[in-house]
Amino acid sequence: MIEKLLDGFETTRFQHDLIEWYENNKRDLPWRKNQDPYKIWVSEIMLQQTQVDTVIPYFQRFIKQFPTPQALALAEEQDVLKAWEGLGYYSRARNLHTAVKEVVARYNGRVPNDSKQLLKLKGIGPYTKGAIMSIAFNEPYPAVDGNVMRVFSRVLKIEDDIAQAKTRRLFERVVAKIISTENPSAFNQGIMDLGATICTPKSPQCLLCPVQSHCRAFSEGIEEWLPVKSKAKKQKRIPYISLLIQDKQGHVVIEKRPNEGLLANLWQFPMVPIKEIEIKHLENYISSEYGLNIRLGNKQGQLRHVFSHIIWDIEVFHATTTDKVTDKRLKQIPKDALDTYPFPVPHQKMMSHLS
Ligand code: ADE
Repeated sequence: MIEKLLDGFETTRFQHDLIEWYENNKRDLPWRKNQDPYKIWVSEIMLQQTQVDTVIPYFQRFIKQFPTPQALALAEEQDVLKAWEGLGYYSRARNLHTAVKEVVARYNGRVPNDSKQLLKLKGIGPYTKGAIMSIAFNEPYPAVDGNVMRVFSRVLKIEDDIAQAKTRRLFERVVAKIISTENPSAFNQGIMDLGATICTPKSPQCLLCPVQSHCRAFSEGIEEWLPVKSKAKKQKRIPYISLLIQDKQGHVVIEKRPNEGLLANLWQFPMVPIKEIEIKHLENYISSEYGLNIRLGNKQGQLRHVFSHIIWDIEVFHATTTDKVTDKRLKQIPKDALDTYPFPVPHQKMMSHLS
């Protein structure tokens, strides 16, 4: 099956053309300054689901704050989440933290140069394993993400649905066959850069492509039709009311989210799904759920936050209280202490409505 796919494909020339282009055109990225496996690991976790331009300043701050596995292992989870604030997919940060603690405890702080041991670490799957093995240790492992599948679906005219898990495994087998064993690091990073700068999802720059002469999609003029990707299902919309509850001193009530699930252990302004509770019952609901008496004020605005699988539609209200909070999920803090807690982006936006 794979042999058939690679029939007539000039692997050695492809490797050469790709690696030569990469060596002459590689992007100057902060995680490319050395081969420290810890830094490569952090960068690859950040780069999952997130654009390079967004990641760069986060990566630089994160490495400054946690320069070694030991430093990250010793950190409080809240500080790790704070450093991740705004990047999204916060389980990446929690898993990285857990895994780095394991590396410190079990491997004396050295990231293992072993694909099986890497795979056992929390948050490291086949992609991250391959990226670390190839980029940090220069071992020939495939590192297949959506960008890599896009490039090879075009080069080799592979029409399988890249939304399916088994397709990623097919691409891993393909890349395992054609990756350079001399320079797997440049090969994998070359594919990544090609996917980011030339072999883009829309209007690929085929005329500038270093491997154009190898590309089956280009030769048939079908590059814009590949890869084949079935549509994800539409996100479910959930309406909420969120409350900016302040007392006479201007202190504000915040709530810690549960320690699992969406945005686990981040902080928010108390938030209630309005399907479950009509607005006229809101004061009673807060009183019975949190033991906090509030008086509802005016609506301040409305905001929407789109996650991968759901959409939050939030109406933001002012409220006042004369109570001190007693519920263990809640804290009452001065406004200028808000920036020491990790908040999801929609709740950061609500801060502009505080009085
Ligand atoms: N995307 C994922 N990993 C990357 C890397 N190491 N360099 C550039 N883009 C990437």
